[in-house]
Amino acid sequence: MPIISEKGLKMPASPIRKLVPYAEDAKKRGVNVIHLNIGQPDIKTPQVALDAVKNNTLEILEYSRSEGSEEYRTKLAEYYKKRDIDINPSEIIITTGGSEALMFTMGSITDPGDEIIIPEPFYANYNGFATASGVNVVPVVSKIDDNFALPPIEDFEKLITPKTKAIIICNPGNPTGYLYSREEIKKLAAIVKKHDLFLIADEVYREFAYDGAEHYSILQEEGLENNAIVVDSVSKRYSMCGARIGCMISRNKEIINTALKFAQARLSPPSFALIASEAALDTPQSYFDEVIEEYVERRDLLITELNKIEGVTVAKPQGAFYCIVKLPVENTDDFAQWLLEEFNLNGETVMVAPAAGFYSTPGIGYDQVRIAYVLKKENLVKAVTIIKEALKKYNA
Ligand SMILES: Cc1ncc(COP(=O)(O)O)c(C=O)c1O
Repeated sequence: MPIISEKGLKMPASPIRKLVPYAEDAKKRGVNVIHLNIGQPDIKTPQVALDAVKNNTLEILEYSRSEGSEEYRTKLAEYYKKRDIDINPSEIIITTGGSEALMFTMGSITDPGDEIIIPEPFYANYNGFATASGVNVVPVVSKIDDNFALPPIEDFEKLITPKTKAIIICNPGNPTGYLYSREEIKKLAAIVKKHDLFLIADEVYREFAYDGAEHYSILQEEGLENNAIVVDSVSKRYSMCGARIGCMISRNKEIINTALKFAQARLSPPSFALIASEAALDTPQSYFDEVIEEYVERRDLLITELNKIEGVTVAKPQGAFYCIVKLPVENTDDFAQWLLEEFNLNGETVMVAPAAGFYSTPGIGYDQVRIAYVLKKENLVKAVTIIKEALKKYNA
C-alpha cells in the first residue's frame, strides 16, 4: 500500500463541516436542521452579476490571464479608490476565491518551519493553509470578555522569533465579528515594521461594518508598502460564494511577482465567474445599504434573544456576520453532536460550529460556539428557542 504524506495526515478537518454526517442523519430521521454553522448568506446575488453570465455571447471558454484580465483589475482598483484605498491594477492578482489568495500568500512568503502569528479564535482554514505550506501557527489569545479586541501588542512581540514571517488578522473577524480600529491597525503596523514582518489582512468582510463604524484597511496605512498583503473575495460581498473569485493585493512588487508564478502554475481564474465578478462591481450602493440593515437587525435580534438565556455570554460583533457565544456546557463538540443526534423541539434542531476548532491553543474554546446569522429573523428566533430548551435538557 503506497503511503500518503505526513502533511496530508496533519491536514486538519474543517470544524465547521465535521458534524455534517450527524446533520444528514437527523434530516433522514425527518428532523429539520437549522444551520447556524456555516457562513453561506441567504442574500440574493446582485442581478447585474447574474444577468452578465446569462447574457454573455462567449463561444470559447478560454484561459484568461493568470493575474486576471486588465479590465477587471482596472475596475477593481476603482472600487478600492472609492473606499480610500489607492492601488493600481498591477498590484492586484485575481484568484480562485480568497482561499487561493491565502495559499498564494503563504506560498510566496514562507518556507517549511516558518511561523505565523495569528490572534485566535481565527478562521479555521488558516490552520489548513499553514499546514499545506509546512508553517507553524503561533496563536495570541483574544478574549470574549474584551469582545475579542486586539490583544496587547506586547503579547505579539513576546512570540516573535527568527522564524516569524508574518502576522495574520481577519478584519472584520470570522469568527469573532470584531472590527479592528485605526489605532489597533497602527499598533500592528508599527510592530511589523520594527521586526520586518509581513502583515496579512483578510478583509473579505470589509463591506460588513456596522453601527456607523468604518473599516480601516491596512492598505490605508502609510509606510506599510513593503509589508502589507490584503486578501479579498467576492464571496461574501456580493453573496457569490460559488463564483470562486477573490484577489490578493500588495504594493510590494516582489510579492506580486512571486505570487504571479503560483498563479501561472494554475493557469487562470474561472471565466464565467470573472464575468459575474466584473459585472458585480456595478452593484448599486443601495444593495449594500439594504444588506447591512438586514444584518444589523439580525445581529441585534440574535444577541437580545441569546442574552435572555441564563449562563450565556455573547460578544457583540461590529462586523461580518458571526458571533462567538459562550454556553453553560463543558464541551461544545459533544453538545453540538447531541443537538443533532438526540435533541429536537417539535421536529427541529440546530447545527452550530463548536469553537475549539477556531483556536490553536489546546484546551480553550470548548465552552464556545460560533453562530452565523445568515438566516431570516424568524429562523434565528426559532433557533435560539431551540438552544434554550436544549440547554435545559442537556444540563438537567
Ligand atoms: C475569513 C475568511 N477568509 C477567507 C474565506 C474564503 O472565502 P472564499 O474562498 O470563498 O473567497 C472565508 C470563507 O468563509 C472566510 O470566512
